[in-house]
Amino acid sequence: MKFATIGHLRVEEDIHQFPKSWIQGDLAISPELNIHGTRGYITGLLLTARQMMELPQNIVRKKILDAAVFVQNSFGVDLIQLGALTTSVTDGGVWVTQQTEYTGFVNHGDSYTAAVTCQTVMKALTFFHKESSDEVLAIVGAYGVIGEAVSKILVPQFKQSILIGRKEEKLNNLKKSLQGNFSTTVDLNTIRNADIVVTATSHPTALLRSEHLKKHVIVVDVSQPPNLSYEVCQQRPDVCRIDGGLVDFPAQIPIPGMPVGKNFACIVEVIMQAMEDERKNHAGSIDLKHLRKTEKWGEKYGFTLKELTNFGKTITRTEEKNDN
Ligand SMILES: NC(=O)c1ccc[n+]([C@@H]2O[C@H](COP(=O)([O-])OP(=O)(O)OC[C@H]3O[C@@H](n4cnc5c(N)ncnc54)[C@H](OP(=O)(O)O)[C@@H]3O)[C@@H](O)[C@H]2O)c1
Repeated sequence: MKFATIGHLRVEEDIHQFPKSWIQGDLAISPELNIHGTRGYITGLLLTARQMMELPQNIVRKKILDAAVFVQNSFGVDLIQLGALTTSVTDGGVWVTQQTEYTGFVNHGDSYTAAVTCQTVMKALTFFHKESSDEVLAIVGAYGVIGEAVSKILVPQFKQSILIGRKEEKLNNLKKSLQGNFSTTVDLNTIRNADIVVTATSHPTALLRSEHLKKHVIVVDVSQPPNLSYEVCQQRPDVCRIDGGLVDFPAQIPIPGMPVGKNFACIVEVIMQAMEDERKNHAGSIDLKHLRKTEKWGEKYGFTLKELTNFGKTITRTEEKNDN
């Protein structure tokens, strides 16, 4: 199978991180990559996160479909990955699977992202010598594609969980699929009660402010663009922000903002699917059996979570001592 990822800019300045030769019309397209014999492309719509969420949805969807059809017809791509907010604006990718112009397979890559997010949370607890059964967890974006799977896996393991979204009805639906001690709310201020926060939202800019955060809270920030800004981290050295959804990946792929030797779990999932030649769609709600399979693929190929990072920088023991 030949893969292509379809992402977008986080902010306008990201465009300068692509070589000029990548820009073709309103798309950035990498040269053909060869990862252990599996070929594919990194592509990006030249729309910012804000534009992705604020332009009329039919316009954004058409650009995503045009990109999928272009890589299919020009390069023989038959597996696309819906990166960052392209999943959010296409009903978890389901809309793309329903379009007839693109005939290949679709994967949002959120299954491995959710798996790695849960691994990151457990690794962070070990790092800080904490037990999940003593801690309060908050999940922001709890009924999103990633948030729902993370909630199903983590909530039963924590003393208490606070599940946060924007719509009561969706929170009520989420409740039916969960076991454990949890409450649901639309009030972001309740994060203040949590010892560890997972944030996986489609909010196009930073969402968490200093006043939302308890002293010494751990924040696993999966969102792209990030939900916890560098500036808030500077103001609050007691807070430990950890990148969610980043794994070790030896091949260097030039993605704006990507630390050397790392890659997004969502991109890696689709590269692994192409390596495995698994001819299936993975769109919409996550199948936990598939999520576990992606973990096995990660181990098989060595694309796993090896260390905790914050904005790509390795988190060291000194982070524990910050007490401002
Ligand atoms: N690190 C990685 O490897 C990686 C991989 C994939 C995705 N991501 C990122 O992860 C995030 C989530 O992706 P996804 O595919 O799970 O998206 P999704 O299915 O669209 O879920 C996002 C959820 O966030 C909620 N939300 C948006 N704004 C909010 C706010 N202000 N307060 C509370 N909830 C809010 C949305 O609620 P409504 O439905 O009510 O709008 C939605 O349920 C995105 O930022 C994406 O770019 C990262």
